[in-house]
Amino acid sequence: MAKTKTVFFCKSCGNESPKWVGKCAACGEWNTYVEETVVTGKAGKTTSAGLSVTRSKPVAVKDIVSGKEQRIDLQNLELNRVLGGGLVPGSLVLIGGEPGIGKSTLMLQVALALSNTKVLYVSGEESQQQIRMRADRIGIRNENCYILTETITTEIISHFEQLQPDLVVIDSIQTLVSPLIDATAGSISQIRESAAEMNKLAKMTQVPVFLIGHITKDGSIAGPKVLEHMVDTVIQFEGDRHYGFRILRAVKNRFGSASELGIFEMNANGLREVNNPSEILLSQREENVSGVAISAMIEGLRPMLIETQALVSTAAYGTPQRSGTGFDLRRLNMLLAVLEKRSGFRLSSKDVFLNIAGGIRVEDPAIDLAVIAAILSSGEDLPIDTKSAFAAEVGLSGEIRAVGRIEARITEADKLGFEKIYISKYNAKGLDQQKFTIEIIPVASVNQLFGQLFG
Ligand code: TYD
Ligand code: MG
Repeated sequence: MAKTKTVFFCKSCGNESPKWVGKCAACGEWNTYVEETVVTGKAGKTTSAGLSVTRSKPVAVKDIVSGKEQRIDLQNLELNRVLGGGLVPGSLVLIGGEPGIGKSTLMLQVALALSNTKVLYVSGEESQQQIRMRADRIGIRNENCYILTETITTEIISHFEQLQPDLVVIDSIQTLVSPLIDATAGSISQIRESAAEMNKLAKMTQVPVFLIGHITKDGSIAGPKVLEHMVDTVIQFEGDRHYGFRILRAVKNRFGSASELGIFEMNANGLREVNNPSEILLSQREENVSGVAISAMIEGLRPMLIETQALVSTAAYGTPQRSGTGFDLRRLNMLLAVLEKRSGFRLSSKDVFLNIAGGIRVEDPAIDLAVIAAILSSGEDLPIDTKSAFAAEVGLSGEIRAVGRIEARITEADKLGFEKIYISKYNAKGLDQQKFTIEIIPVASVNQLFGQLFG
């Protein structure tokens, strides 16, 4: 006999509690519990539609047949890269991002570009006409792309069985409703159940499933956070909606590196792949302006050159302002303190603004040296030679520290026609200048940098 009861779920981590609590015991977040109704009983709350479970038994690791890992080529270099070299059959991939960032566009584009692949695109958000209009903008190449406007999971599964597609896209997981449990679409228990059903579908049929999930600005919407634990891969769409660039980042990947990055540009006819980011991130440069420095950074496996801009001006108010776009503000404050303390550069009465070109968020510490150089350049109003690049981390005592994969960075700068690259003296030690046309300039400390740049 099925019984209805109410339980409380944490919106942040999905923890369950029989009564409301102010602070989540599992993740420590405050005020995240919401009440939901669940049905338990004979059916069990996780029984999934129409699919029976096969029982597995333990097998010695040496006896497991190691098949060569197959990957599905999605005909999209950037997406393939983020997935770790293509899509793994039977995987469940969550693609998250703010509304309007381009999730539906990317997925429809992939579905329409694949040849000889039957795709089932399930939408609970838009009508077939709306999707057709978008498809017309993007261009229809795959005649085997089927659009289904449906939100009930059991219906989706029965259409799946009839159509036998090679790839499924669900837009979005928040709209799905499983009739097996009694909860509204978008609630945590509903999202969990629907995702579990889709996961079972993917695992049993070896057909990969993409789930689109909405995330608000602070990344706090309940569903996707809970979902992250349930899926194989989480990729996140980032970028300012007002910029053309979109960054696709792997946040979690069971089948590849979780630091890969894909870059796209939103055009009038869909998302264009940006296979050589450096050229775009550097193209809008004016000659000889102060406060601009180029950093040779690495995101994932890919080196790219990116522009860092700083503006240092006399503070208009008593408390100087510090702001960083695309760069961690705490790290900026630390670098400013290092500059002040170690090189006597007076910044305490100045406003400092920092901007990373293209709306990209940088995590690679090798950008430190370019940040410092841009600040020095703006502060003194002396432009840095446009053919110079930087790649080093800055330590608390003003020392210039070595960074990983220095050769890849130098090669990229070299390839793009840069003439000088400033790196840590510790990185420079083992390098052979003969191999590069670019001049390698070792830097020991923040103190020394000023003289090397403008001396
Ligand atoms: P969309 O894929 O609907 O976002 P999401 O599914 O993440 O909510 O993206 C919609 C935005 O992209 C919308 O503002 C219109 C714009 N767009 C283009 O600029 N060019 C195009 O070819 C398409 C299809 C959309
Ligand atoms: Mg959408």
